[in-house]
Amino acid sequence: MPLRPFDKPILVTRPFLPSLDEFMEGIKEIWDNRWLTNNGPIVQRFSRELSNYYETENVCLFNNGTLALQIGLQGMGITGEVITTPFTFVATSHALYWNKIRPVFVDIEPDHYTLDPAAVEAAITPWTSAILAVHVYGFPCNLNALADIARRHKLALIYDAAHAFGVSVGGRPISHFGDMSMFSFHATKLFHSIEGGMLTFRDSGLKETFDYLKNFGFKNEVEVVMPGTNAKMNEMQALMGMLVLKQLDHLIGSSRRIDAAYRECLKDVPGIRFPPPLPAGVDYNFIFQPIEVDEEQFGMSRDALYERLKEWNVHTRRYFYPLICDYACYRSIPVNGSLAVARRVADRILTLPIYDSLELSDVEGICDIVISLQQQATTRGPSARPAMIDKAAPVV
Ligand SMILES: Cc1ncc(COP(=O)(O)O)c(C=O)c1O
Repeated sequence: MPLRPFDKPILVTRPFLPSLDEFMEGIKEIWDNRWLTNNGPIVQRFSRELSNYYETENVCLFNNGTLALQIGLQGMGITGEVITTPFTFVATSHALYWNKIRPVFVDIEPDHYTLDPAAVEAAITPWTSAILAVHVYGFPCNLNALADIARRHKLALIYDAAHAFGVSVGGRPISHFGDMSMFSFHATKLFHSIEGGMLTFRDSGLKETFDYLKNFGFKNEVEVVMPGTNAKMNEMQALMGMLVLKQLDHLIGSSRRIDAAYRECLKDVPGIRFPPPLPAGVDYNFIFQPIEVDEEQFGMSRDALYERLKEWNVHTRRYFYPLICDYACYRSIPVNGSLAVARRVADRILTLPIYDSLELSDVEGICDIVISLQQQATTRGPSARPAMIDKAAPVV
C-alpha cells in the first residue's frame, strides 16, 4: 500500500486528559470552596497522595518544576560550583544560574545519556558544593557511583527527576536516592498537573524552608522570615494532578506497548539505535522514545530525517540538541573535557512520538515512513515526497 502522510499532525507528545465529567466534579468542589490557591484543600489532598505514592512525608509541591529546583537549591544552601550535565532541558542549568551557582558541564555515558561518574569525579574542585544529575528520559543515573562520589567528597547529591515520575529502582521510588529530587508535572510529561512541580528530600528540616520560600517567606500574617518568591501550586493544577495520578498505570502501560512496537518495527533498520534495555530492577515509565541516527549507515543525517518526517506530518523533536553549554547564555563558561559523548549523542538523537492515545497502527505508519526514507536514501532512488499537507503543524 502506498504511504500517505498523516491527516493530522502527529506530535511528539500529547497530554493525557481525564474525563471531563470527572474534572467538572472537582471544579464544582473548587467553586463551592471558593479557595483557588494558597495551600487549598485539593493541593493538600494531592500532596498526601504523592506522599503515599513516594513513601515519604518529605514532599513539597510547586507551580512548576523550574521554580521547585531553584527553590530546592536555594533552600539547601548550594553555592559555588555544581557539576551537571549539558544534555538536558535548559531549565536544569537555569535553576543554578538563578542561584548564582556556576554550572560545570561534564560528559555523559553513551548508553542511557546520564552523567558519567568518572567525569564527575575528575571535575571536583574546592568550590564544588553539589552534583546536579538528571535522570534524562527517565533513565536512572548511575545511582551507586554518584552516591559514592558525593559521600567521599562531602557533596550534596541532587537529582533533576523531571522525566522520572513513576520510575523505581530495586522496588524503591526514584525519589529515594540522593538528597533531593525535583519532578516536573508539566503538560508535556507522562504524568502532569497542567503545570506543576515537586521536591522530595531526605532532610525533613528542609520542608519548612521550602514552604517559606514558595510563599514569599511568610511565617504568619505579620512575619516574613526570608525573601521568598511565589511558586505555589493552585487548586486547578492539583485537581488535574489527582485525576491523572489515578491513570498512571494505564499511561505507563500504553507507552510500554508503543516502545515495544517501535523497537520491533525498526529493529533491522541500519543506522537506527535504541538505548539498550535498562538494568534489571528498574521499573521504567516510557516517557520518551529516543533513537540515535547514524548518518553514514542510515544514509541521511538526523536533521534531514527530522525535516523529512515533517513532510509526512510526523513531528519529532531533537531533545536535547543543542547541548546547554552551546546556548549563547552559557557559551562563555569553560567546560570540562571534550564532552565527546554528549556532542555525538546531541548530533544524533531524535525523540519519536509517544503518548497513551497514539495508536499502534500509527506507530507502524511512522516506522514505515522511516524505513522508506532510509531505503530511498541508501539506494539513491527517486526521492518520494508525500502529497502536500494543508498547513504547517503546530509543534509541541
Ligand atoms: C530535565 C528538565 N528539567 C527541568 C524542567 C523544568 O520543568 P517545568 O517545565 O515544570 O518548569 C524540565 C521541563 O520540561 C525538564 O525536562
